[in-house]
Amino acid sequence: MTVRPLRLGVNIDHVATVRNARGGVHPDPLRAAEAAARAGADGITAHLREDRRHITDDDILRLTRGSDLPLNLEMAATDEMLRIALQHLPHAACIVPEKREERTTEGGLDAAGKHNQLAPIVNGLAGAGIRVSLFIEPVTEQIDAAAALGCPVVELHVGAYCEATGEARERELDRIAAAAAHAEATGIECHAGHGLGFETVSAIAAIPTIVELNIGHFLIGEAIFVGIEDAVGHMRRLMDNARSDGPATASGDHGGDA
Ligand code: PXP
Repeated sequence: MTVRPLRLGVNIDHVATVRNARGGVHPDPLRAAEAAARAGADGITAHLREDRRHITDDDILRLTRGSDLPLNLEMAATDEMLRIALQHLPHAACIVPEKREERTTEGGLDAAGKHNQLAPIVNGLAGAGIRVSLFIEPVTEQIDAAAALGCPVVELHVGAYCEATGEARERELDRIAAAAAHAEATGIECHAGHGLGFETVSAIAAIPTIVELNIGHFLIGEAIFVGIEDAVGHMRRLMDNARSDGPATASGDHGGDA
C-alpha cells in the first residue's frame, strides 16, 4: 500500500496567549509561523475566538499575507466569523464549537444536530474556495452529517484518546481508527487534533487514512525549553517515523520492523 504523506499543522494560538499577557507585540505569532515552517510544518492553524483571547483579527491578516504556509482558520459557526473568513480568504477553515467559558475547545461539533445552522456557513466558505472541515467526535453519525453538509474534510477530536490511559486509551484509538476508515470510505479527507504531544502522536500518525494533524499547546509549551524549531522538528520526525512503521498500539509500539 502506498504510504500517504502526513501533514503537520502547527497551531500558534498560545504564542498569542503569551504575547497578550503583556499586551505588546512579543512574541509574534507570525515569527513563530516562520520558525515552524523552517522546522517542517506544512501549515499554520489559528483560532480566532469570539472574545479574541489569543489570536486577533490583525494576526489573521498578517498570517494570510505574510506567511508562506497555508492558514487553517479555526472558527465558530457565526456570521461574524464567516465575514472575517471571506475577507481574509484562508486556505482552509475548520468549524469548531465554541463556548465563552471554556478553557479550550471541549468536544466536537454536533454536525448532525446543527445541520441547518451549519449549512449557510459551510456553503459561504466553500463558495469562496475555502476548504471547509468540521471538528467532530470520532463517530460515524458525525462523519455522515459532515458528508450531508458537503464538507470535504473532517478533523477528529482526539482529546479523549490523549487523556485516557491503559485499556481506555486502546478503545479510544480503535474508535479513531474506525472513524478515519469510515471517513475515507465516505470520500472525506480525515484530519485529527487536540491534546497531542510527543507521547501520544505516534499511534495517531500511524493510522493511514489520517492525512493531517493539528498540534498546538504541547508544541508551544515545549518550545519554552527547546525552542520552537526543535519542538516542531521532533514532532515532525515522530510523525514521519510512525507513518513509515505502520499501525501502532496506544502504548506507542509499532507493528512494523524496528
Ligand atoms: N484542532 C482543533 C480543531 C482545535 O480546536 C485545537 C485547539 O485549538 C487543536 C487542533 C490543537 O489542540 P492542542 O492545542 O491541544 O494541540
